[in-house]
Amino acid sequence: MRVLSVVGARPNFMKLAPVDRALVRRGNVEHIIVHTGQHYDAGMSDAFFEELQIPRPDHHLGVGSGSHAVQTAAVMQRLEPVLTELRPDLALVYGDVNSTLAAALVASKLGLRIGHVEAGLRSGDWTMPEEINRVLTDRLSDLLFAPSRDAVENLLHEGIPAQRIHFVGNVMIDSLVAMLPAARALAAPACHGVASGSYVVATLHRPSNVDDAGTLRGLLGALEALGAETPVIFPVHPRTRERIQSLQRGSTHTSNVRFLEPLGYLETLSLVASAGLVITDSGGLQEETTYLGVPCLTVRPNTERPITCRLGTNRLVAAERDAIVAAARDGAETRARPRVPIERWDGRAAERIVQVICGA
Ligand code: UD1
Repeated sequence: MRVLSVVGARPNFMKLAPVDRALVRRGNVEHIIVHTGQHYDAGMSDAFFEELQIPRPDHHLGVGSGSHAVQTAAVMQRLEPVLTELRPDLALVYGDVNSTLAAALVASKLGLRIGHVEAGLRSGDWTMPEEINRVLTDRLSDLLFAPSRDAVENLLHEGIPAQRIHFVGNVMIDSLVAMLPAARALAAPACHGVASGSYVVATLHRPSNVDDAGTLRGLLGALEALGAETPVIFPVHPRTRERIQSLQRGSTHTSNVRFLEPLGYLETLSLVASAGLVITDSGGLQEETTYLGVPCLTVRPNTERPITCRLGTNRLVAAERDAIVAAARDGAETRARPRVPIERWDGRAAERIVQVICGA
């Protein structure tokens, strides 16, 4: 059996790693990896392949950055000949980035079977490019691998036949479970000179938060205010770095916030696992903090991962300085909450995916 995985952007890689391992363990499957090149900086891509021990991609499409149309079209054009030549029995796509939808479109028009890892998440917010990518990818997929029961419900409500939907659990948590001992052994908090439980990790990269100068100024203001009280560590996504630089052009700015380059998977996990608070707009971090029992403020009006608010440590907060500062100071609500295990967030989601693909 030939399975071909298409990945392209940073959050895809943590989802690919456990699936690749489970397919290799199965023995009789040829697993081909195609990297679209949507993310291309070493710190956004290569570092993750190395740390997560993912084999080098068999094909690299070198697509790079661009507008949504340019990026999606480039993936489609460059992927089509690869899929036409290899004709896999199953094309696997991951998450909700532009590479995900582009690959699903190409594969479906070639009549290939498609599996979507992390199917069924919905924010209901059509201003998010990821929501468009999720809904359309699910519509095109034959096997929908859902991380949570609410995702299954979303798919059933949209009329997806039940036999296509498989509640396998969360592959992001597979990677976390596999890598947590190595991450803890890194002792990243000590390397950064901060004490366990007494610092904030911040990450922000959504266009809705960083592309508007006024909003970004408010968010940086919140981190500045918190940074005066407690260490704030902020690994900065390239999109955000660019925006911060244009905001501060010409100013001799000093800051309470520790701005870092994007960090690898293990260092991030090591820092997040011992943080007192995470402030983020990432999808993955909402899940990881819930699993770890670390309080999380998600700077968004909605989330496609409501289970992290209902059962986990996540809380939504408006993209406004005072709202974030107040929510960070008043963390008692989430801090006091006992850690609730979430169904099938147990490190075995990829194993279940491979059982569905290859038969029990
Ligand atoms: C993409 C995903 C988003 C995901 C995020 C994780 C889409 C629509 N968005 O957003 O869902 O949460 O990845 O990081 O697919 N850049 C670099 N080096 C890189 C990659 C990007 O400098 O390796 C810069 C470029 O200026 C680029 C910008 O970041 O234009 C945005 O990159 P892009 O891949 O378009 O979207 P992300 O914001 O990373």
